Amino acid sequence: MHIRENESLRDRNSFGFDIRAEYFCSASSIDEVKEALAWQQSKNLQLLVLGGGSNTVFTRNVSGLVLHLAIDNLAAKTSGDTVSVAVGAGINWHSLVKSTVFNGHYGLENLALIPGNAGAAPIQNIGAYGKEVCDNLESVEVIHRTTGEQLTLSNTECQFGYRHSLFKTPKGSDFIVLGINLELSTIDDPVVTYDALANKDPTAKQVFQQVCVIRSSKLPDPSVIGNAGSFFKNPIVPRLQVDALRDEYPSLPVYLQSDGSCKLPAAWLIDQAGWKGHRIDGVGVHDKQALVLVNHGTGNGQQIAILANEIRTDIKNRYNIELEREPVIY
Ligand code: EPU
Repeated sequence: MHIRENESLRDRNSFGFDIRAEYFCSASSIDEVKEALAWQQSKNLQLLVLGGGSNTVFTRNVSGLVLHLAIDNLAAKTSGDTVSVAVGAGINWHSLVKSTVFNGHYGLENLALIPGNAGAAPIQNIGAYGKEVCDNLESVEVIHRTTGEQLTLSNTECQFGYRHSLFKTPKGSDFIVLGINLELSTIDDPVVTYDALANKDPTAKQVFQQVCVIRSSKLPDPSVIGNAGSFFKNPIVPRLQVDALRDEYPSLPVYLQSDGSCKLPAAWLIDQAGWKGHRIDGVGVHDKQALVLVNHGTGNGQQIAILANEIRTDIKNRYNIELEREPVIY
């Protein structure tokens, strides 16, 4: 394990912000994670764990140790129709999706092209086009950042919800995800509840390809335009409030939830409010998807934080709806 000082994180965050870590190390095994934690504790330093860097907005340099998770084990075991796949936290998510689907191990096809690494997938319970990672997650391997205890948390113990998990709560935020255990299938029966996928009874490979086409057409590629995917969650709002809003905005799309509440597309609210394509300094709102904030090349994290606050305030004033941020602001 090699600890480096004053390391640039520019290529390690998907916004591409040029900030530095006081200390940095990349751990490619669980033993190296333990070694890094012991070093950080002996020096009494703060710790920031980084995966693919697609869910953090850096507004300043990072003091203490940035621990990059590069654990890259990958093993599949088939039993009947079920394929159990153990995946190290450092495996790139999209390459995992692609390799499983093209090996005939189905279940992740709707989650193609989501930026980031496998270790981050359970933290915000990544989801798209009718699926969430928790639908195929058997368990999560973790280590406690202060006690060093290693645990396997079951799907239920992870308390998954829409863009939510145990790892986002105060109790769960002390866990570092070392790996995930997926449950896939050899049966080719993809989920096609999302309207754009529903035609022609597609195979999982076709769903994978279709999702790649849809995402590439409206979501910016972080290697070209810095971004962190959806910047806000879709808000869940009581039915009565939605009925009142619909009187004023008849075209408001509404997704009814099983408990009677309604999920509203934050992108629609932001778009209607006139923010799409809007630029402030070096940052802005993407011109094809209003839910995505982008770095036009010269922006910084503080500008993103200011823009996000302006949007939140405007949405609150217009619709009386609080938008909740998805990425973490550091
Ligand atoms: N819409 C607009 N303006 C826009 C974009 C969208 O009015 O600029 C409207 C659309 O017409 C549609 C609605 O908003 O009626 C929803 O749009 P879309 O289907 O594109 O999905 P989304 O709700 O904006 C969510 C996820 C995405 C995921 C898609 C597809 C969240 C926060 N975002 O976006 O996830 O890819 O559904 O399932 O739930 C991500 O998390 O980074 C992400 C991209």
